[in-house]
Amino acid sequence: MKFDVESVRKQFPALERKINGYPAAYLDCPGGTQVPQRVVDKVVEYLIWHNCNIHGAFATSIETDAIILDGRKAYADVFGCSWEEVSFGANATTLNFNLAHAIARDLKPGDEIVITDMDHEGNRGPWEILEERGIIIKDVKLDLEKCIIDMEDYKSKLNSKTKVAAFNYGSNGVGTVSDVKEMTRLAKEVGAITVVDAVNYALHGPIDVKDIDCDFLFCSAYKFFGPHVGILYGKKDVMESLKTIKVKEQEDWAPLKFETGTLNHEGIYGAAESVEFIASIGEKYEEHFTDKLEGLKGRRRKVIAGMLAIEAYEKPITEYLIDELCKIPGVKVYGPPRGYQRTSTISFTMSNKSPREAAEYLGEKGIFVWDGDFFASKTVFVLGLKESGGLIRIGLAPYNTKEEVDRALEAIRELAAM
Ligand SMILES: Cc1ncc(COP(=O)(O)O)c(C=O)c1O
Repeated sequence: MKFDVESVRKQFPALERKINGYPAAYLDCPGGTQVPQRVVDKVVEYLIWHNCNIHGAFATSIETDAIILDGRKAYADVFGCSWEEVSFGANATTLNFNLAHAIARDLKPGDEIVITDMDHEGNRGPWEILEERGIIIKDVKLDLEKCIIDMEDYKSKLNSKTKVAAFNYGSNGVGTVSDVKEMTRLAKEVGAITVVDAVNYALHGPIDVKDIDCDFLFCSAYKFFGPHVGILYGKKDVMESLKTIKVKEQEDWAPLKFETGTLNHEGIYGAAESVEFIASIGEKYEEHFTDKLEGLKGRRRKVIAGMLAIEAYEKPITEYLIDELCKIPGVKVYGPPRGYQRTSTISFTMSNKSPREAAEYLGEKGIFVWDGDFFASKTVFVLGLKESGGLIRIGLAPYNTKEEVDRALEAIRELAAM
């Protein structure tokens, strides 16, 4: 498959920015992607022409109701579920806090919740806070050599008292993709509710919630070309069974019962357009993935094809970047070994510079990379990197090129030689 990166790039106005005379290279994708013009246009269109609250009797309100419903349908095609299983919120973390509090209403002291050292604080904090109510939080360890979940440790932490297992699909710290289907299966054996954090994974590979069989899964549109909107999938019957945190006048049926207050309507309109953008990539490359698209129709087929095309484009550049980084003296890459599933999130340290110094040096050359722990704080802690400033993180999006990666590598080589 020959991926036409130029046709993607020309849709992103931000790529025209220059920093100190250098073209900006946005290698910061795991913190949020840039936004194509068509998504910007939708946000602007909403604010000019449809701006209103919901459930009114007049045009802009009726249009807003339709926009929100269409947004749910777009994400139903991302997850492979019904629109009645898609809730929107301010961001993934806020949705997860609301979910945790709803689930906790049915828990009692001594009940257990399993979380993992791979998780972002957004899928740790909402559960950890329940310790105040006597709930026991169990932390699954990592295999630190491979930067993967220690599955034996995971199994050992599940038992009849486990009420929730919350885990990560793709790690925003080290790029590991975990076997969430198997983790869900094991958690279900003990009757636990499963919550999957797909914030880092979404965009870099296809999602099928019915195949995973998880109860909840969340992601954030700003990680894949959309505005700042969080999206929650919940199995209809599990959603219906929970008493959510909401005002009493608010509808008590799924998916509305998870949504507090007025939503970000313009954001939802833009977030739906980011799905159309991914589908437009899929439309172009569908024929390369016919075996993996069997049985899929309409926009869902195109969205999955788009994610497969993005995955196929990013994979060789990711592997090239890791191989080249490993050749640089003093650079240590953290992440799963070759052959293990991963996203295009690549983290490393340098022996002669702190992550902040490295990110500043690259930033001066217009190369945007992250440094620190990115709220993958526990992962960074168990890797023993907290005191030294964490990790340097590069992440790829389908608008990045091998040339941009070469620019980053060149700057890292210069820095390593100082
Ligand atoms: C893996 C992961 N989970 C959760 C979050 C939190 O998402 P949000 O910013 O939408 O709350 C992030 C954000 O970086 C993330 O990378």
